[in-house]
Amino acid sequence: MFNSISTQAHKLINLASRKEEVNLSNIKSRTKLLTITSGKGGVGKSTFSANIAYILASKGYKVAILDADIGLANMQVLLDLKPSATLFDYIEGKVKLERVLLKTKYDNITLIAGKSGYQYSKNNSSFVFARIVKDLLALNRFDFLLIDTGAGLNEYVKEFLAISPNILAITTTDPSALTDVYALMKMLSKDKSKLILCYNHTQNYKIGESITNSLVSLAKKNRLNNNFMVEYIGNVSTSKCIPTTGRLRKLFTKEFKNDQVSKELNLIINALLKTIK
Ligand SMILES: Nc1ncnc2c1ncn2[C@@H]1O[C@H](COP(=O)(O)OP(=O)(O)O)[C@@H](O)[C@H]1O
Ligand SMILES: [Mg+2]
Repeated sequence: MFNSISTQAHKLINLASRKEEVNLSNIKSRTKLLTITSGKGGVGKSTFSANIAYILASKGYKVAILDADIGLANMQVLLDLKPSATLFDYIEGKVKLERVLLKTKYDNITLIAGKSGYQYSKNNSSFVFARIVKDLLALNRFDFLLIDTGAGLNEYVKEFLAISPNILAITTTDPSALTDVYALMKMLSKDKSKLILCYNHTQNYKIGESITNSLVSLAKKNRLNNNFMVEYIGNVSTSKCIPTTGRLRKLFTKEFKNDQVSKELNLIINALLKTIK
């Protein structure tokens, strides 16, 4: 009997402390938090994260990117850097926060690197990522903190989504990618007010718009929370310059400033700047 009460109490304490840790709203910070996610892998999250960071940085904003693709970290490749420390060194208490803030070759872009092939135990993961985000916000040093998540709705990704007031989903028009986006909408509609959505590998702005309308209609039909909205902010076409620059560890928005895809991503960022809080 006592055992079961004490287990119950323990559960409640855990729940309470979790709740407290997830609540980042009591932190006064100029840093806007944007989590970039997708559901499906390979749709362009990391490419977008790095290039969004570059465009924001060239507008004069101070940007930090946190590589939250646990196990498949590749932001260091896109930003052409060999990390001297990763976010796990901080999480595990081996180093101070400053040590994991890596200067990149781009002005105004700081990377908090992930670790490839890293297996982080699920049991340890409860809101440990929220803590590093909280500490980064408390620094009050960046205008934006971009979190590049991995594919799927695993526990890690859910943790970042739970603490983020701004969520940008990237999808293609591929049915399996759209199914994943709908699953994401379903999950977020329970306690978020908005999902920002953009399409990659999509040449026509209107196509993205009409697919978004279909997703919203489906949400209405299935009675997802009425107060939840999906905001479509644009499309990026397919271009050879994107994988080519990626392979060369360069950024397409820098190397091909005037290419159609750079213009499209710029439009997405203009819309983002209007909508994120
Ligand atoms: N619009 C695009 N046109 C052509 N290739 C693209 C485009 N967007 C992304 N890619 C390529 O697709 C691959 C996967 O992109 P990546 O950003 O790593 O996806 P994710 O982070 O979602 O797994 C990379 O090789 C990237 O260069
Ligand atoms: Mg990625």
